[in-house]
Amino acid sequence: MGTNDTASTFASLLQRLQGELQLLPDKPDESPEITLRCLWALAEDRPLAVSQAATFTPGALDDTGRARLRALVEQRLAGTPLAHLTGRQDFMGQILLASPAALVPRRETEQLGFTAVRRLQSLASARPLVIDVCTGAGNVALGIASHLPQARILGADLSPEAVGLARQNAGFLGRGDVEFRCGDLLEPFSEQLFQSAVDMITCNPPYISSARVDGMPAEICQHEPRLAFDGGPFGVKIIRKLVATAPPLLRPGGWLLMEVGLGQGAGVARTLAADPQFDEIHTHNDAAGQIRVIEARRTPAAQA
Ligand SMILES: C[S@@+](CC[C@H](N)C(=O)[O-])C[C@H]1O[C@@H](n2cnc3c(N)ncnc32)[C@H](O)[C@@H]1O
Repeated sequence: MGTNDTASTFASLLQRLQGELQLLPDKPDESPEITLRCLWALAEDRPLAVSQAATFTPGALDDTGRARLRALVEQRLAGTPLAHLTGRQDFMGQILLASPAALVPRRETEQLGFTAVRRLQSLASARPLVIDVCTGAGNVALGIASHLPQARILGADLSPEAVGLARQNAGFLGRGDVEFRCGDLLEPFSEQLFQSAVDMITCNPPYISSARVDGMPAEICQHEPRLAFDGGPFGVKIIRKLVATAPPLLRPGGWLLMEVGLGQGAGVARTLAADPQFDEIHTHNDAAGQIRVIEARRTPAAQA
């Protein structure tokens, strides 16, 4: 394959992707051109995350490489998530491993991660204790860890497969000190040492109502775990349980941070504001003006 062949193959595959690729709004970085660059690199045996693709120059492919590239394009057009093909996903400036074992981390969830980092930086604690539940691939826990290397961070998920991927990611990033446990929400942290001791609990819970999960795009509902999305009949089952079970673990003045679904923010914020176990609530909007992250402070001891 010469330079001209490379250029014409790239141009024709790009045209195909531009015409046929279904783009999801929660994966804004996966343009047809970036997708093609990722798939081409993969055909050259170089798994790249989206952030690395812009500077990748497609090289000449032999017959096997070309067949592999065509097969990858077909898989992507049939709905396989790009991150499942490359095995890589960007999150909070790090490149993580991705697989069908857990939700592919979304760009929108970086708002939760960076809000947590800012809040932790404002606390007096030199080595804050942080628990990330519904941790999935471990992206929020490991994202916080990269910005606050001194923090003690643990994560947990109900899915053993997700916990397996989170542990792989900790190893991949050289952060074996970030511990991942398996279990229902905060149950894996029932030891005495966590009671009234946690500086922050973070959570990106499943928050789609059960009825809506099956109607999600095939790229999501046929390739990612249902457990990652299904938030019960009204979408807030896990959020409600978290709000009820977090206070005993939070130290007085500690923080609960959650991502919420579109349209849920005002109701969840009202519930938290009415709960005497929390005394300060902050909401954070996305670019479209929707509440997507909520912070709630555990009432300090004197007022509780
Ligand atoms: C929306 S995904 C979030 C994954 C990851 N934190 C992220 O931001 O990409 C929700 C996660 O919650 C987990 N999950 C669902 N129900 C749970 C429960 N009762 N206890 C713990 N984890 C749960 C799912 O397995 C899934 O990994």
